[in-house]
Amino acid sequence: MSPFFSDDFKEEVRANNDIVSVVGRYVKLKKTGNRHWGLCPFHRESTPSFTVSTDSGLYHCFGCSASGDVYKFVMEMEHADFPEAMKLMADWAGLKVPESMVEDRYQAQKLQKKQRYYALNADAARYFYMMLHEKESTEAQQYITKRGLAPETIKQFGIGYAPDGWDGALNYLKEKGYTQEEMLAVGVIVKNAETGRVYDRFRDRIMFPIFDMKKQVIGFGGRIVGKGEPKYMNSPESDVFVKSRHLFALNFTRGAMELIITEGYMDVISLHQNGVKNAVATLGTAMNEEHAKVMGKVCKEAILCYDSDKAGQDATMRAIDILIHAGIGVRCLTLSQYKDPDEYMKLLGVERFRQEVKQAKSWVEFKIDRLRTNYDLEDTHQKIQFANEAAKIFARVKNAIEQDAIIRKIAAETGISSQAFLTQIAKVNESAIHKSAFMPQQRKKSSQQTEDHGLTKRQLQGERLLIYIIAVDASVAKRIAQTFSVKDFDHPIHHRLATMIMQLHETGKKVSIPSLFEAFDENEQSAVAAVFNSELQFDDHYKAAMDIIHHIQSEKRLRVIHQNIQEGNVAALNDLLKKHKHLSQ
Ligand code: UTP
Ligand code: MN
Repeated sequence: MSPFFSDDFKEEVRANNDIVSVVGRYVKLKKTGNRHWGLCPFHRESTPSFTVSTDSGLYHCFGCSASGDVYKFVMEMEHADFPEAMKLMADWAGLKVPESMVEDRYQAQKLQKKQRYYALNADAARYFYMMLHEKESTEAQQYITKRGLAPETIKQFGIGYAPDGWDGALNYLKEKGYTQEEMLAVGVIVKNAETGRVYDRFRDRIMFPIFDMKKQVIGFGGRIVGKGEPKYMNSPESDVFVKSRHLFALNFTRGAMELIITEGYMDVISLHQNGVKNAVATLGTAMNEEHAKVMGKVCKEAILCYDSDKAGQDATMRAIDILIHAGIGVRCLTLSQYKDPDEYMKLLGVERFRQEVKQAKSWVEFKIDRLRTNYDLEDTHQKIQFANEAAKIFARVKNAIEQDAIIRKIAAETGISSQAFLTQIAKVNESAIHKSAFMPQQRKKSSQQTEDHGLTKRQLQGERLLIYIIAVDASVAKRIAQTFSVKDFDHPIHHRLATMIMQLHETGKKVSIPSLFEAFDENEQSAVAAVFNSELQFDDHYKAAMDIIHHIQSEKRLRVIHQNIQEGNVAALNDLLKKHKHLSQ
């Protein structure tokens, strides 16, 4: 999986980290029957639909379909990559990560180089932090006070000051043992192309360190003290700083299920200072797909709260498209006459802001409201144009109830009938289908739509139980193979699972549920988890299996009958009835 670790060690770590106790570190679990239940940490809920099973080594949420093994769980909860999760779990289990497992020399060197950059940035942050507290920095201190930053905030965010001058940071870092090359690489200093002279990048600026999820300093944003250009100077991208992969303050939002996205560093800091601890901002760049991907890992909903000027509102429109494309729910908060969240908070206070958050409009409403300002709805021609454009927006609302509600609302407000909107939406959808016939399918969506592959609920459940039995009981698996073979599983994932399990049995190998799990793509894994979480206690595996097979078979026959009735296929129905007679005799 990773160049650093052997599979043996990975399995040793797994064996020493029982999934129930690992999950129990984060989620309060209660044992009911053979399973542990708790409130899902991946979506908001008030009754538990999140289950963990020691037997299968998997977790699964029946509410949001989050699922995986113990590694995936730790990676998600800690926002860690695989090696990090493994190290953490090895620690918990008191296992030492073997030195010899750092195999790939190139990777190791690269990692070492990055470690140096993190250390350099951390030292630079320490330097700036120290400088802010120097006697000579009165102007910077005054500025910070004027902006209302509390001492705890300065500490939490590690806010500092880069004094005016050419080589303060340079000399400090040189002293600490960093080379000029390293300082240039992370961009704390710059080089004059003509003279070759090097000097500090940040001069007379308030410094905001940017942390990654592991709280490592990856770069800086530096605001000029008072007026001047450019207002903000940011670290350049480097091996450790990729702007589109990080968000300012995301490291302080742990556990938040929705994020408030603002434009500026100061907005974020001001919100956090007032207890709104789920605010983040992009790093001096517009939001893009990469950002959305990062956010998608930690939250399901975002609230856009950009500046109220035209640039901010235009940016909101673009951010909406990016976020909903990434499957994140979006609401938008407009600050009317207030410039940005920072100003809003200062003038109206945090309680009002929280209320605004609660009442933030859905993105659809935001878009429709904005669209409306472009048309004169008294003019019939413009009204038609408005309806056409609105329908395109409505068509993107996937939830039927939400769509219905917003259409009714806009219909009432504009005097355009709901039916007219619906007709237009149908047209939009139709042309979208035609278009998509020529476009590559989106993996995730299509798998969700066809999740059950035309199986009835009972058949689906039956197949799951059957897979479970053949996975845990090799002898029964072989006994029933005559009656119900691998190809009788209608669900393609069940079919693949059964095939893999039977192969393992045939070669006398042990069936390991986590490794079965890993043989599937991420978007297929929840179907696999559903199988192994549907475990029940059967006294007699063989008898249970035969019962289930019986049910599945009659379910399948019923389905064929249904289909023939619907298609009016009398001949086929007669045939079936004859067969049935034969079966029941
Ligand atoms: P703003 O100009 O709105 O700054 O830019 P702000 O954060 O509200 O700061 P104050 O309150 O005026 O001090 C929003 C964001 O755009 C980026 C920064 O990330 C900033 O936080 N920006 C802005 C730059 O990168 N460079 C600039 O010159 C200006
Ligand atoms: Mn601003």
